[in-house]
Amino acid sequence: MTTFRSVNPARPDDVVGEYPQHGAGDVDDAVARAAAAQRDWARRPVPARADVIAGAGGIIARDKDRFGDLVAREAGKILVEAGGDVQEAVDMAYFVAGQGRSAWGETVPSELGDKLCWTTRQPVGVVGMITPWNFPIAIPSWKIFPALLAGNGVVIKPSEHAPACCELFAAACVEAGVPADLIQVVHGFAEPAAALAVHPGVGAVSFTGSVPTGRKVAAAAMETGPRVVSLELGGKNAMVVRPDADLDLAVDGAVFGAFGTSGQRCTSTSRLIVHPDVAGELVDRIVKRASELRLGDPRDQGTDVGPVITGSSSERIGAMVAAAVDEGATVATGGGPVEVEGCAGAAFFAPTVLTGVRPEHRIAREEVFGPVLAVLEVAGLDEALEVVNSVEYGLSAAVYTRDISAALRAVDAIDTGIVYVNAPTIGAEIPLPFGGTKHTGNGFREAGTRGIEQFSQPKTVYVDYSGRLQKAQIDTHPLREDESA
Ligand code: UN1
Repeated sequence: MTTFRSVNPARPDDVVGEYPQHGAGDVDDAVARAAAAQRDWARRPVPARADVIAGAGGIIARDKDRFGDLVAREAGKILVEAGGDVQEAVDMAYFVAGQGRSAWGETVPSELGDKLCWTTRQPVGVVGMITPWNFPIAIPSWKIFPALLAGNGVVIKPSEHAPACCELFAAACVEAGVPADLIQVVHGFAEPAAALAVHPGVGAVSFTGSVPTGRKVAAAAMETGPRVVSLELGGKNAMVVRPDADLDLAVDGAVFGAFGTSGQRCTSTSRLIVHPDVAGELVDRIVKRASELRLGDPRDQGTDVGPVITGSSSERIGAMVAAAVDEGATVATGGGPVEVEGCAGAAFFAPTVLTGVRPEHRIAREEVFGPVLAVLEVAGLDEALEVVNSVEYGLSAAVYTRDISAALRAVDAIDTGIVYVNAPTIGAEIPLPFGGTKHTGNGFREAGTRGIEQFSQPKTVYVDYSGRLQKAQIDTHPLREDESA
């Protein structure tokens, strides 16, 4: 079978692993195996499934350093952020496990006597998952743990840049007692992903990645069968800084939001919408901090910013910066690729701040997925909020102000799935819904209690113990005498 290599983006000579390029036939086999294992799994009581998931959380917590090191090595995330990625999966495991001992449906009083009504949940069967490399442990955990709790089998196609992380995650699940065939990992590029999206044996498809790929997956999946499709796509997240804001806080938030994970989160801050009265000082301070960030091997403790994932990613980011300059923006710091000693062949992109950006510029509208912050000066609060909402994405936004009225007006007006006040656009916590409006997704939310909803179907149950035929809506609301006469 043809194989591909996963390499360390900071040291491309370091091969993390070699993996098969699976095709449609392999996806068929994987779906069949997961479906066979799913039948027994679904018969286990929900709390028993929950205990296995809690166990997986415990194993990931026990091996956090090993997981974190692999995330740093394979995805190029600095160690502290890699640790956060892993912790998010631990949190998710415990949260989902708790849901296994929580309400599983509703009971409603019947309009008729001697009759019970309730809802329960049934699995969809096998869930197909297509996941990105940038949260190679957390994002699989958002999908796999709720899918398992709901009684499903899983076939997951991780990004070709993070196959080892996904295998390590699946191994932790198996060590915790998940039946070996229940989680199938398929590897490769577009072919297995496309096969999974349209597979008739797959009851739900969950995708996190780019808008164009997500649209293709969704269209193909909808065309080939009745199934649930959840999409988490891009962002063009804005931070609004009002003139009364605590500027120390805003500087910290902008630097972490824009340059953390080398700007490669779907929640990364990519627009700074700042009041002209404070723009000069704020931008100077952000530029100074950005230029002092230490680029390097993400596994070195002193590194602040790791590489971007590939050379072509760096080229794409560079082209977007060049186009922004053509449209009239100014590079205040960074602007292009940089060489890092000891990391030959790696793609590092300098943390970049662009000033003089206007809402109509491409750099103010399109997702960069790299360490680039576009600064837009806007005076009025309403105008600033309009600019926040003027893009086709709606994932995350932040507003920095000490004025409670301005903060709450912003919370009301901003059309995104997540809004922060005096905190950066990154850093969502798992008990709450994660996802966005507009082209960021298709209305689904991951994490929180909705994970279970995504991967199961409600079943409404009526039990009539009256011993006679009772007619809802008819016995309870008989025709009025004058009408029946
Ligand atoms: C992503 O970038 O796809 O809120 C997920 C955050 C993280 C999750 C990001 N907890 O930044």
